[in-house]
Amino acid sequence: MSREKRYRLLMVCLGNICRSPAAQGVLERLVAERGLEGMVEVDSAGTYGGHSGQLPDPRMRRHAARRGYDLRHVARQVKAWDFDDFDLIVGMDAGNVRDLLRLAPTAEARRKVVMMGDYIGKNAHYDYVPDPYYEGSEGFELVLDLLEDACSNLLDEVLAR
Ligand code: 4NP
Repeated sequence: MSREKRYRLLMVCLGNICRSPAAQGVLERLVAERGLEGMVEVDSAGTYGGHSGQLPDPRMRRHAARRGYDLRHVARQVKAWDFDDFDLIVGMDAGNVRDLLRLAPTAEARRKVVMMGDYIGKNAHYDYVPDPYYEGSEGFELVLDLLEDACSNLLDEVLAR
């Protein structure tokens, strides 16, 4: 990773109220812990705009708060210009990736799209970050467990670039 240039990461899920704001919170803490503020920037967005303007789901905020994450992102929908503004665009599951590839305006934009599931190392049962919206507490805890693992691996890869 070049020292002169900021590396910009966009986390993407469906609603931008559960998984992607949690991924943003996890990554922002990792960036701070590793002294990378100003070098790596993180934002999040949803492929569906129906929750735009909302804070994260209260269940996600509550579970995240127990681990010390204060999630305050205001939901927004992915826009075509995000593919110019960000270096890497990270969908949480295969559906997010499919939607992102459809939205990507150019071949170069498509090359920026990856899936968070590909960075999961510790939980062999999951190769994507499952949608917790219709799940109970375990769904939200699972999302945080998967993200704490995958985001650390993702940041390692970004630093190695
Ligand atoms: P997220 O979860 O994609 O992780 O933010 C969802 C939020 C809202 C809906 C589905 C998933 N929804 O159907 O409104």
